[in-house]
Amino acid sequence: MSTAFGPGKVILLGEHGVVYGHPALAAPLCIGVTAQAVPHSHCEVELAEPSPSGATQLLKQAFEQVAELAGRPAVKVTLKSELPLSVGLGSSGALSVACAQVLLEAKHGRAADSATVGKLAFEMEKLFHGTPSGVDHTTSAEKALLYYRRTPGEDHGHFERLLVKSSLPLVVAICGARSGTKKTVAELRSRKEIWPQRYTRLFSEIGQLVEEGRAAIEAGDLKSLGDLMNVNHGLLSALGLSSAQLDSAVHQLRSAGALGAKLTGAGGDGGAVIGLFEDPEAAVETLKAAGVHCFVNRIPGVVS
Ligand code: MEV
Repeated sequence: MSTAFGPGKVILLGEHGVVYGHPALAAPLCIGVTAQAVPHSHCEVELAEPSPSGATQLLKQAFEQVAELAGRPAVKVTLKSELPLSVGLGSSGALSVACAQVLLEAKHGRAADSATVGKLAFEMEKLFHGTPSGVDHTTSAEKALLYYRRTPGEDHGHFERLLVKSSLPLVVAICGARSGTKKTVAELRSRKEIWPQRYTRLFSEIGQLVEEGRAAIEAGDLKSLGDLMNVNHGLLSALGLSSAQLDSAVHQLRSAGALGAKLTGAGGDGGAVIGLFEDPEAAVETLKAAGVHCFVNRIPGVVS
């Protein structure tokens, strides 16, 4: 029997711009998807918990693709997810990574390296997302805070692991299910086609925030990172990617003391928001008392 874990992810800065070749900063979550493989007559997948039938069908189709690429080891893979679906926390990327990792290990009898896992996971992720930038599954496969960039059309992205002086204390708040990433990305693409210069300008500005965010993280300047998150949320709103619910959650996090807060992931009509806090545990207590569904996620510091 073997098991593999694909963490969910949060995008600290740069979602959507990353689809158009700009960089993004993304970090793994402490929760994710676990895949367990046991010997079986043939290669198949099952979910530990029931899921809507459309989602199960798509999962089976995507699994078939990755099973084929992994050489169809004779195992049954059971998937268990701690991640809410369709809220922007990277559940499909985490699932793709967990499946790819467990199948490769079952086939070769040893753990595969993260680049090989990522390559297979990307094939699965494309079925879920259409034209993903690849930031979700790469962050999950690398299990590290990444500066990520992919030129549209290239078959893989490029990343650097960031060295963080001290841990990044985040609060993640879930606002509820939203339309799929595929739809939100496609609708934004249509708006960009109508007003290309305006939208290109906004994406470039988001890319610039990411560069400044990277410098702030490397300098341990949480105040500056928080301000960049606020500005990034404003630009995502300008792109039509926020909602009354997301804006209200962002303001609740700021009122609870966030140095900065923004939507994370595709956004749209629901999803999740993140806030950067000096004392995230106290903030979660306050927010929970106000009825916000949230948790603490500390991104561990790495010293060179
Ligand atoms: C989704 O987590 C992030 C987006 O930038 C889409 C992508 O990168 O593929 C909205």
